[in-house]
Amino acid sequence: MGFHNKVIYQLYPKSFYDSDGDGVGDLRGIIDKIDYLKSLHVDMIWFNPFFVSPQYDNGYDVADYRQIDPRFGTMADFDELAKKLKAAGIDIMLDMVLNHTSTEHAWFQKALAGDKHYQAYYYIRPPKPDGSLPTNWESKFGGPAWAPFGDTGNYYLHLYERRQADLNWHNPAVRQEAAAIINFWRAKGVHGFRFDVLNVIGKADKLVDAPPSVASKTLYTDTPIVQDYLKELAANSFGQDDNRVTVGEMSSTTIANSIAYTKPDNHELSMFFQFHHLKTDYKNGEKWSKVPYDFNALRDILHTWGQGLDQGGGWQALFWNNHDQPRAINRFGDVGQYRVKSAELLAAAIHLSRGTPYIYMGEEIGMTDPDYTSMADYVDVEAKNAYAALLGKGMSEKEAFGIILAKARDNSRTPMQWDASGHAGFTTGTPWLRPTNQAAINVQAELAHGEIFKFYQQLIALRKQYPVISDGSYTPFGTEIDRLYAYIRTYGTQQLLVLNNFSDKTMTVPLPEKFQTAKVLITNEATLTPTATMTLPPYATIGLLQKA
Ligand code: NOJ
Ligand code: MG
Repeated sequence: MGFHNKVIYQLYPKSFYDSDGDGVGDLRGIIDKIDYLKSLHVDMIWFNPFFVSPQYDNGYDVADYRQIDPRFGTMADFDELAKKLKAAGIDIMLDMVLNHTSTEHAWFQKALAGDKHYQAYYYIRPPKPDGSLPTNWESKFGGPAWAPFGDTGNYYLHLYERRQADLNWHNPAVRQEAAAIINFWRAKGVHGFRFDVLNVIGKADKLVDAPPSVASKTLYTDTPIVQDYLKELAANSFGQDDNRVTVGEMSSTTIANSIAYTKPDNHELSMFFQFHHLKTDYKNGEKWSKVPYDFNALRDILHTWGQGLDQGGGWQALFWNNHDQPRAINRFGDVGQYRVKSAELLAAAIHLSRGTPYIYMGEEIGMTDPDYTSMADYVDVEAKNAYAALLGKGMSEKEAFGIILAKARDNSRTPMQWDASGHAGFTTGTPWLRPTNQAAINVQAELAHGEIFKFYQQLIALRKQYPVISDGSYTPFGTEIDRLYAYIRTYGTQQLLVLNNFSDKTMTVPLPEKFQTAKVLITNEATLTPTATMTLPPYATIGLLQKA
């Protein structure tokens, strides 16, 4: 497939580079840094939303899908950015937040003013006869999923923040609006689209209470109708572009459903994001907890999905980081003694695997979670709600803050660290979110004498050069060895064995004979060569290519 050898870079515009000193990253700032992006050789950039938004959820509350929010720039800036990126060989992926709109969107405002046509765009329901909320559903950001619809006595559904009202996808007019928005951006030459929380658009017509002890999300997540709506949307918009690259954000999905979403014959999506591997440091499934990650669970998930998708013909996005996750290097690596090695190990573990690798801004220089000292440093609504909820459960401030430090989404939203100066070279003003460790980790230092950025360049180049990486099959390897995550990719007569030591201890791995004479394609340990029994230093990664 055309996109299998591509690598996508995720850029959080608010935190990339601020050109006008207002403390918020902007489109002109991105234009200023195109040479940097070009030097990494990524094929496409997924931009988090920069559409008009009151920013109650950092742009995922869109008030106008066809305009650039003034804090990020103008449409002329976007057009210039698109033109210059194209000249640099980089395509654009836009973030389509179509499960919900901001309550400031004109549709919601008209609905509030009494317009029946627009009321049918949302889920507006009366209270139960006893006066309680329409259903017992919970918002993913805490509290009930219903808020008063003006002073009508009715309520509107919001699965996320109170000011993100869920759209009623059963209404054909809503589906037409969605296609029209995508087509607006297609007309500007955009053919990459990321779809926010796509697998929750298929709520039942009649909304009912979740039974006791059943999480409400199981009632509306991954329902079969999502596939129908997706097929229709594709046919009416992005599906008409041969060079399209689309990715659906699918929380709590299954392998079988993901295969259905992405099998080429189904004409739905190019690929999907799932999050099971990023829940391996949750205590009893609870995100707001602090426990070391479970390596065996992580490996098991990576293998089961890798193999399951291969066998079923599905395609996944490969990623460790995004704007909703604390930095993976803090979770699965070692930011103390082995920051560089573990950054490279994490990179190789997914870039050599089957799927499309995503690099989240800053990963390529080994950025880590910020060293914040108080809740005042945090901005995200989710972190604030979670902190209050933890205190409400009787937890001490110290313990609750420790959990926020480990899990907050702001951890990855801190400004890109361009240099060692006070605001990390991100802004001349006051940054909207504070960087903390730029003295040690920054682009300038990395490009001058680091090795992580170069390692990423190498991985990106290899994917283009070797079909065994872009299109080979996936087979788990060495699962009997503790802390080893390894797999074999096969393409025709070529085989690639990838070994990753996910520990701070030396590990020995017996090699199958055919790999003992293999070529080292890439490694983060210069002196490592194949032998009958390999000794892998802490956080070592190596890719061995065997040509039959
Ligand atoms: C997923 C986005 O990645 C996240 O940042 C946002 O809060 C929710 N969807 C709601 O739009
Ligand atoms: Mg700015």
